[in-house]
Amino acid sequence: MKKSSSQNPLKNKIVDFLQGFSTISVTCNQWGDTGKGKFVDLFAEWADIIARGTGGDNCGHSIEADGKKFVFHIIPSGILRDGQGKINIIGNGTVVNPRTVINELALLAEQGCTYSNLMLAYNAKLILPTQIVMDRIKERSAGVGKIGTTGRGIGPTYTDHYSRKGLVINDLLNPEIFRQKFKAHLDEKKMILKNYDYKALKTIMHHKDLESGFYWDDEEIFAEENVVERYLQYGEILRPLIKDTDAFIRNAKERGLKILLEGAQGTLLSIDHGTTPFVTSSDCSVGGLARGAGLKESDVGLSFGIVKGLYMTRVGEGPFPTEFGGDLSAEWCGNGLNNEETERENHSASDINRSEPFSRGIALRILGKEYGATTGRPRRTGWLDLPLLRHALQFGGEEMIFTKLDVLDTCETIQVCTEYEYQGPDYYFGDHLYQAGDHLGIAIPDSNFLKYCAPIYQEFKGWKTSIRGIRSYQSLPDELLEILDFVISQVPGNLNIISVGPGREETIFL
Ligand code: IMP
Repeated sequence: MKKSSSQNPLKNKIVDFLQGFSTISVTCNQWGDTGKGKFVDLFAEWADIIARGTGGDNCGHSIEADGKKFVFHIIPSGILRDGQGKINIIGNGTVVNPRTVINELALLAEQGCTYSNLMLAYNAKLILPTQIVMDRIKERSAGVGKIGTTGRGIGPTYTDHYSRKGLVINDLLNPEIFRQKFKAHLDEKKMILKNYDYKALKTIMHHKDLESGFYWDDEEIFAEENVVERYLQYGEILRPLIKDTDAFIRNAKERGLKILLEGAQGTLLSIDHGTTPFVTSSDCSVGGLARGAGLKESDVGLSFGIVKGLYMTRVGEGPFPTEFGGDLSAEWCGNGLNNEETERENHSASDINRSEPFSRGIALRILGKEYGATTGRPRRTGWLDLPLLRHALQFGGEEMIFTKLDVLDTCETIQVCTEYEYQGPDYYFGDHLYQAGDHLGIAIPDSNFLKYCAPIYQEFKGWKTSIRGIRSYQSLPDELLEILDFVISQVPGNLNIISVGPGREETIFL
């Protein structure tokens, strides 16, 4: 990797850093929420095209630019550079709620931002109200089996795609085809929904995300004509954006345009490589992202993988071996009763150095502002887990970016999980038998196994000083350098960039 002079302004550094590459990707090597938005925004300085290829409005990408904070759920984070002629693409592998796109366009317009070069793939999967209802009602009835989804209809929409019962964005432009396909889809969904609790369905259907009851029918559950009417209106609004983005991006690549692929969620949430079954329904790895944007994985010249520096977070259910406070924390974060306001009122960021882990977890959440951008849910917190990182690096970006290191500025000690001790019943992993007491250095992403993995830690001294003003790697405190050197020596990835604060300038290129 080419090194750049620390004297250069940020833009030159980025251009210098990415010289010689034509397609790069930014994905997350953890469970999402690692600060991808900041880097997509920074690399958008270099790119001609910024494309998303997976997920839907289940994610929230936060960006701070010119003193303003923006959160996008479906529109690529490069949109703030639309005015400079950059093209943003919502690719074929995404699931799209047209209402969310329209709301985000309205927000952009309100802030005086343009979206003249935004494209929406004709073959992106269309999220319908039926799928939002299915997502919510299933979670409600799942009890202990619930995943803790965002309730945006993501899973049911991908399921319908694979079972060939889904619609695509282009259907919105052809009223007769839309009607026909939607009727067939709805007939099937109504048969399923009839088995669920009527009152619960009615309540869900009156939620504001489902147009506050506009789609509800007392007898039929769905007022079919209302859905058709509203969705065809959405189609008319979105018509100018809908394009064959697969053909466009391939052609752009041939013409030598610079392409930035923007990941969503994280490799540990990938349907194919994540901690199943507590995952999302798209493949959040580099391969999934490339395909969903209309390219091949081999088209990606440089794949960045974001890692939250020295800690991790998780939203929703599922095992989290290094979680501060274990089950207590998981319950606290998932019961819907706690949020940033209540935690700030009743707890203190200074608890970060308490020996009692549950309070430490809350303190870390407060310090790192670890509350969901999409749902407001408190994110579960824990130390950096190298066995999980080693697993993620097999499918995620190996050029690592460590973010949010400044969050740990006040920590007296830092722990890094280097391996696990398995403490469960006999478990066959292919031809290998794991038994209680066995140690392993790379995680097996099956939650039935992972829940019995106890972390083994290496402890380091904290740096106990603010690093937000530091702009060169060598100037970082010795204690931090020691930890970073250790982590890098332990995993098959390279460290490229460090983020020491949310602002664009608070970035160190190695
Ligand atoms: P879904 O994507 O809404 O189906 O949710 C499936 C799982 O992925 C749940 O545990 C969610 O909390 C998690 N998830 C989905 N999107 C994000 C994200 O952007 N950040 C973190 N977790 C996410």
